[in-house]
Amino acid sequence: MKAVVIEKYGSANLLTEKEVPIPEIKTNQVLVELHGTSINPIDWKLREGYLKENLPFEFPIILGWDAAGVIKEIGSDVTGFQVGDRVFARPATTPNGTYAEYAAVDENLLAKIPENSSFYDAAAVPLAGLTAWQCLVDFSELKPGDNVLIHAGSGGVGSFAIQIAKRFGAYVASTASEKNKDLLTKLGVDKFINYREEDFENVLQDFDIVLDTLGGEVQEKSFNVLKQGGKLVSIVAPPNETLAKEKNVKAGFHWLEPDGKQLAELGKLMDKGDLNPVIGHTFSFSEEGLQEAHKLSETHHAKGKIVIKIK
Ligand SMILES: NC(=O)c1ccc[n+]([C@@H]2O[C@H](COP(=O)([O-])OP(=O)(O)OC[C@H]3O[C@@H](n4cnc5c(N)ncnc54)[C@H](OP(=O)(O)O)[C@@H]3O)[C@@H](O)[C@H]2O)c1
Repeated sequence: MKAVVIEKYGSANLLTEKEVPIPEIKTNQVLVELHGTSINPIDWKLREGYLKENLPFEFPIILGWDAAGVIKEIGSDVTGFQVGDRVFARPATTPNGTYAEYAAVDENLLAKIPENSSFYDAAAVPLAGLTAWQCLVDFSELKPGDNVLIHAGSGGVGSFAIQIAKRFGAYVASTASEKNKDLLTKLGVDKFINYREEDFENVLQDFDIVLDTLGGEVQEKSFNVLKQGGKLVSIVAPPNETLAKEKNVKAGFHWLEPDGKQLAELGKLMDKGDLNPVIGHTFSFSEEGLQEAHKLSETHHAKGKIVIKIK
């Protein structure tokens, strides 16, 4: 099968097309013929070698951890899915990722794609959508009426987080630059903050939840907009524990746990029209397409999700 791989760590230009064997499935896995995948910042962080200590993979590495496609083969222990099912998943973090025509996926990470959603919409959801859900619903115990600040609402995670928070009945503030104001308003944001002109710290107070997608100074300042007993969840870096104690805030770092059942919950929201992936950019499944997609993601200014059309 065709895959786009890296044979060593380094720049986006190292992404190369290669013929590799179709993965063999284990008894608890299915073989998915991929129609789409999407780019997440972890892809280029891993490509650069920033994650080599935590994820010491052997080369060649197939990057990509969002899958949408059709089941072609099922393992002998698989009971909930059949050949021909349209499925999506955030597959396990292995060196056999989804920049490929086929991927082996564990049954417990799979969910069926909602009937009215395209493969490309589905490919945009798993990694970023599950991250947003777990940060807001699991870590922060989001409830109606909460005041929630979502940093970088125009990004992959942020664009899902806004929609999830609104569906739970929260008041949502979100940061982005002016060019994304209309997008955020359409997603339902109650208070838009252009981070280039306004300091969110001077505008917001007594918030219940902050989702930190940026780290650094943004994370540090986020403590100041929270009320006593508020929650700060970061997906970039562990928050300062001393500050958290001082401010009486529950602060933590969350690393996404792939989960098929939760993905099915997101599928239900998609089905009802309550969760609409924002696909800002699409690229072809080729080394040029993947190289361009990585370069765009690395700017930190992509709009919504970057989707790769495999089939
Ligand atoms: N821990 C985990 O499990 C996990 C899971 C997913 C992602 N992550 C991490 O979370 C981060 C965000 O991921 P993502 O996929 O959402 O990123 P992304 O899609 O690349 O984010 C891009 C967006 O960020 C906005 N942005 C850039 N600088 C900003 C600033 N200073 N203030 C407000 N918005 C700003 C941009 O809007 P403008 O163009 O308008 O500036 C752009 O739309 C990445 O570092 C990623 O690695 C971690």
